[in-house]
Amino acid sequence: MLFSPYRMGALTLPNRIVMPPMTRSRAADGNVATPLMARYYAERASAGLIVSEGTQISQQGQGYAWTPGIHDAAQVAGWLGVTDAVHAAGGRIVAQLWHVGRVSHTALQPGGGAPVSSSALQAQGVKVFVDPQGRGPLGGVGEMVQHSLPRALAIEEIPGIVRDYAQAARNALQAGFDGIELHGANGYLINQFIDSQANQRTDGYGGSLQNRLRFLREVVEAVAAEIGADRVGVRLAPLTTLQGAVDDTPQATYLAAAHLLDGLGVGYLHIAEADWEDAPVMPVAFKEALRMLYRGTLIYAGKYTVERAEEALAKGWADLIAFGRPFIANPDLPQRLRQGLALNAPDKATFFGGGAEGFTDYPVAEAAQTTDA
Ligand SMILES: Cc1cc2nc3c(=O)[nH]c(=O)nc-3n(C[C@H](O)[C@H](O)[C@H](O)COP(=O)(O)O)c2cc1C
Repeated sequence: MLFSPYRMGALTLPNRIVMPPMTRSRAADGNVATPLMARYYAERASAGLIVSEGTQISQQGQGYAWTPGIHDAAQVAGWLGVTDAVHAAGGRIVAQLWHVGRVSHTALQPGGGAPVSSSALQAQGVKVFVDPQGRGPLGGVGEMVQHSLPRALAIEEIPGIVRDYAQAARNALQAGFDGIELHGANGYLINQFIDSQANQRTDGYGGSLQNRLRFLREVVEAVAAEIGADRVGVRLAPLTTLQGAVDDTPQATYLAAAHLLDGLGVGYLHIAEADWEDAPVMPVAFKEALRMLYRGTLIYAGKYTVERAEEALAKGWADLIAFGRPFIANPDLPQRLRQGLALNAPDKATFFGGGAEGFTDYPVAEAAQTTDA
């Protein structure tokens, strides 16, 4: 089934293989997507669907050095180069929109202020890659520093951030994307509102489950009003606890989120089971419950193999399967999977930052091997 076509809203995907969002930190000055990035994504256009790397909706939303933005004209023009190249190569691509919230550093914040979050709690668990001196020679990644202490958003500031999401969604369509994916996973801003231990607010955005889901709901409503709910996907990470995004009753919380998103008519729900090695086992009963509550397209990501993917599709709790790290190292991944060819191994040292090395120089399979179907 992995190699059968799938209809998703206005898009027809030639296969069920998704390239999930992966930050590669190679944007140019001004956080503008580059021709090299266009080449990288176009090389992977045989994916049923490409989701771009996390792309900030505002300067405040940036968390790492050299991640692309989509909040000014130069950034929109940069992305247009990417989407044109992907479409010319026969592919489909949506933009992953993120605001990292507290997973940032004063060096990246406008005016050097504190990063913002639902609450003034520091992210836990990982360090941020930033270059506090601004752009410099790349040694793979910028200097590693701890997160800065965030401040809680004043309630009056929240509508402005919701508007930034809506504007970014409009910009994404202008930049030629086929839709957008809201990053509600992995401990970034939306996730900082959802999870009970990250959100300590006592106003209408905290406390009850309904209140913790309010920011997600408002953002989805705003982007859907701008570009249509069928062009909106949402990524959630129910069971991972990245960057201190911990919920006391995650199954109840995320089933409620899935129900909410079903009611809002979003086009797809993208479940991140793993971010790297952090991969708690997700019970099948939970996946089946998600399927009952959410009637749109369901994508799963996290250490999938062809066998596990086929099983998920056959059991019916997934419609599409994302392959992350394998796609970094194998531009022709769908063909390799279909033909059972060996895979190139990804090189972690070149995941973040740098140029073509470890980005656009992974070889496709030998022509001789790929001619017999
Ligand atoms: C280098 C790298 C960067 C990533 N960046 C993002 C990101 O920007 N947004 C996101 O939602 N997930 C991100 N992820 C998580 C992937 O989308 C995916 O969920 C993860 O790699 C698990 O899938 P895999 O086991 O097939 O690699 C990243 C993963 C890697 C390896």
